[in-house]
Amino acid sequence: MKTQVGIIGSGPSGLLLARLLHLQGIDTVILESRSREYVLGRVRAGVIEQGMADMLRQAKVGARMDREGLIHEGINIAFDNRLERVDFPKHTNGKVVMVYGQTEITYDLMNAHIDEAGGIVHYESPAIRVEDYDTERPRIIYQQNGKESELVCDFVAGCDGFHGVARKSIPAEKIATFSRAYPFGWLGILSDVPPVKEELIYANHERGFALCSMRSQTRSRYYIQCEVNDKVENWTDDAFWDELCRRLPSEEAANVIRGPRLEMGITPLHSFVAEPMRFGRLFLAGDAAHIVPPTGAKGLNLASSDIYYLSRALLAYYKQKRTDLLDRYSETALRRVWKAIRFSWWYTNLLHKFDNEPMSRRLQTSELDYLTGSEAGQAVIAENYVGLPYEKFE
Ligand code: FAD
Ligand code: PHB
Repeated sequence: MKTQVGIIGSGPSGLLLARLLHLQGIDTVILESRSREYVLGRVRAGVIEQGMADMLRQAKVGARMDREGLIHEGINIAFDNRLERVDFPKHTNGKVVMVYGQTEITYDLMNAHIDEAGGIVHYESPAIRVEDYDTERPRIIYQQNGKESELVCDFVAGCDGFHGVARKSIPAEKIATFSRAYPFGWLGILSDVPPVKEELIYANHERGFALCSMRSQTRSRYYIQCEVNDKVENWTDDAFWDELCRRLPSEEAANVIRGPRLEMGITPLHSFVAEPMRFGRLFLAGDAAHIVPPTGAKGLNLASSDIYYLSRALLAYYKQKRTDLLDRYSETALRRVWKAIRFSWWYTNLLHKFDNEPMSRRLQTSELDYLTGSEAGQAVIAENYVGLPYEKFE
């Protein structure tokens, strides 16, 4: 099998890249290890930066998001039984974020790329390794129906997430990795109940972090910090709701509407970067190259900025025979990645419980008091949360 751009992984990175290239007449084939239903069933991100919303519109998959997504002009930060709001437009020249689930984005992309445009995605076809990536004819070796096959391409995009094979096809001495694991996880619940407040609440509490998020006016997504080795089986719905309410200011806790779980899961927290993001004709994008703790809501949004840079670089190659943007891809993408890594790490440190030392808590609550009481402090949070700009190319 042959194609112009071979894509490993049909998460948001892979699908968005395939869609943008298809709209410009460039052929792609996506190889995905899981089934279509499994990919769609994963509950993940919920907050979309303006840069990503614009990318989805450009990919002509923004119509439902613009109809059903919720525009949020701020977030709330809770600590010491207080609730403080950070206003986005005021501190960012009018920017906002969109609350629209990754599940919905994936659905919209599958619908447009596969069902309407006839784009090729081979599900249940795991890539095994990438070969000859430093030649003009890189190949993806993959498995389908128990048989090994190969996909010969001009370029390979490794969009196969943190556990994928694209990054692992590179010899260890050619890749530098930076990693930090946090000593806790997030226990999340999805439930068909109205959200406790119209905007998100990020709560710092002596029992640990809590987050009130949502998918719509009738579907809530809540998280609480948990032990890193905790298991979903240890939690009843009631125990989850009780613990969430303990960690919110009393007024908000009193307004929480409880309901049965549609889904409950535990996410470990991790910061990770692989450098560079380009190896000859193999390009890494999204979680394949970097992971952030979900506190800053940056993972999906970084996948979008990587695909912005990569799609433009590939288009410049195919349409204008330019290779300079491909050459600059890694450096350009990583500049934005590191800023999001830094923000997510800092925001995680500000809001979570790391130890039992009273000094740690006082430092956190004092920093929160300072940040939320200062215009400059609010601007630091707002500017990073709505998303730093994508670099434009001439
Ligand atoms: P993935 O979505 O991981 O997709 C990779 C795909 O590759 C998968 O479909 C996988 O099955 C496939 N694959 C893996 N190995 C192979 C192989 N060998 N062959 C073929 N296919 C393979 N981000 C935000 O921006 N905002 C948020 O609010 C947010 N909240 C989150 C909440 C939770 C609970 C979690 C878990 C994550 C959250 N994130 C958030 C992060 C976000 O979900 C990820 O950053 C995003 O999914 C990355 O997209 P991706 O396409 O790069 O990788
Ligand atoms: C979510 O709604 O799943 C969500 C929102 C904000 C975050 C992380 C996750 O920071």
